[in-house]
Amino acid sequence: MKFFADTAEIADIKELNETGLLDGVTTNPSLIKKSGRDFIEVVKEIASICPGPISAEVVALDHAGMMKEAETLRKIADNIAIKVPLTIDGLKTCKALTGDGTMVNVTLCFSANQALLAAKAGATFISPFVGRHDDIGYPGMELIADIRTIYDNYDFPTQILVASVRNPIHILDAAKLGADVMTAPPSVIKQLFKHPLTDSGIAAFLKDWEATGQKI
Ligand code: E4P
Repeated sequence: MKFFADTAEIADIKELNETGLLDGVTTNPSLIKKSGRDFIEVVKEIASICPGPISAEVVALDHAGMMKEAETLRKIADNIAIKVPLTIDGLKTCKALTGDGTMVNVTLCFSANQALLAAKAGATFISPFVGRHDDIGYPGMELIADIRTIYDNYDFPTQILVASVRNPIHILDAAKLGADVMTAPPSVIKQLFKHPLTDSGIAAFLKDWEATGQKI
């Protein structure tokens, strides 16, 4: 499963990139607002750090407006994936852009039928939001299981990008279900490294090593 960071914070992206586990980055208008930076500038910087797909989201709601914004965004770098909402105009834009060789991430997916539409429109990635589903009392991971079944039934190449990830259990479940990608805030990705037995094991080994009086 590929790991994308869901953030526009450069320091976090650099740190994760150095671990070798970062396969891409997703941004959205709320994350750009949080960064306090110019959209184009920050996306350009992210694309220069991480060679994987960097999602940049359009804000127009109509097809012509989305195409115009996509034109600006895809010029930023070769690894930009244009993020469009799951609407009729969004899918029209998806079809036009992917037909042209541009990566498209269809976002704000909340049903398996919506994911089926995105695959038929040629989406590179479909982003089902599991956390927001959990928030309203519907198990978000059931959506991932359904989409996996549908995409496998018809050999759709669209990659399932599990989004709105809030905790390590979401990541574990996404991997068990065979999701292609997950995107999570850096804080959640960093939680994966942690285990109390790793910490106590390191402490015990260090104590014994000091008792040997040796140096490496
Ligand atoms: C995905 O591309 C979105 O940016 C993101 O995962 C949304 O997460 P949230 O529901 O925590 O805002």
